Amino acid sequence: MSAPKMPKPPIHVPVLRDTVVRWLAPRSGGRYLDGTFGRGGHTEALLEADPGALVLGLDKDPEAAPAAAALAARESRFRFLPADFAELGPALDAVGWDRVDGILLDLGLSSPQLETPERGFALRHDGPLDMRFDPGSGETAAELLDRLDEREIADLLFGIGERRSRAIARRIAARRPLGTTGDLRAAVIAAVGPRRGRIDPATRTFLAVRSAVNREPQALAAALHEAPARLLEGGALAVISYHSGEDRPVKHAFRRLAGQPEFELGTRRPIRPEEDELETNRRSRSACLRILRRVEASGTGGARPEEARR
Ligand SMILES: C[S@@+](CC[C@H](N)C(=O)[O-])C[C@H]1O[C@@H](n2cnc3c(N)ncnc32)[C@H](O)[C@@H]1O
Repeated sequence: MSAPKMPKPPIHVPVLRDTVVRWLAPRSGGRYLDGTFGRGGHTEALLEADPGALVLGLDKDPEAAPAAAALAARESRFRFLPADFAELGPALDAVGWDRVDGILLDLGLSSPQLETPERGFALRHDGPLDMRFDPGSGETAAELLDRLDEREIADLLFGIGERRSRAIARRIAARRPLGTTGDLRAAVIAAVGPRRGRIDPATRTFLAVRSAVNREPQALAAALHEAPARLLEGGALAVISYHSGEDRPVKHAFRRLAGQPEFELGTRRPIRPEEDELETNRRSRSACLRILRRVEASGTGGARPEEARR
């Protein structure tokens, strides 16, 4: 008799992996910060690209730690800190790095987070209504939705572009306390009806609640403030976002900085995955990469990667 099949743990395929490596262009002795280590896909690509490159990884999810520990055990050029990228300055100070050659923020969720029902991020699987990147601190999604009044919930949903924010907030408020992701999805469907197209009607609600639970806009704003100042000349900041609420602040911050002589945009338009990646990695569909480069004050920074210039 054959052994019963164990479910495979979800793997995370790094988005725009090679493009990120081309832009950060690791060099021997260069120092790189991966502010969103996840399962280490981008970090490993940076380490592989040059045998002398050094990487510091951060992630606030304790479940990133085992992969980080395994990588650190076999690769002395890698270090990991369980930290929020909002605190990237103190993290760099802690390892004695003043400035670095490259910084990557690959925002949002990893596949293992999304596909583990107990984490409470998934629309498709019922689980506790949690949604914390760090389950050891802060309010869960259920606690947040319990604390906010109906108007505040509507504002939260409206802020992420949910047109039916008031109707959804009314249902959420009426059905409290919500215990599971299924309860939240059912409240949205009671307000707006079942799925008609390709997108689940609760997608934006889940995004808005996750973003508020993890204070994602605040963390991104803090990182966009600190990261450019931590780049060496010739260094690059790469940010991959997955929805317009993430991309907008990146676009505005980069454009504002590119008005100063020390910085320039990597590309005028955001970089998106090519067809083959879109076909093989679903998560890449909404990905949008922006690059900011620190150039010499005269504006004569190093050459850009040929391929990414298109
Ligand atoms: C899209 S995944 C990154 C995947 C990674 N690039 C890889 O190849 O495995 C985003 C990761 O960032 C982490 N994260 C999100 N917000 C964070 C924050 N403010 N500080 C630190 N880590 C954060 C999440 O826990 C998640 O592991």
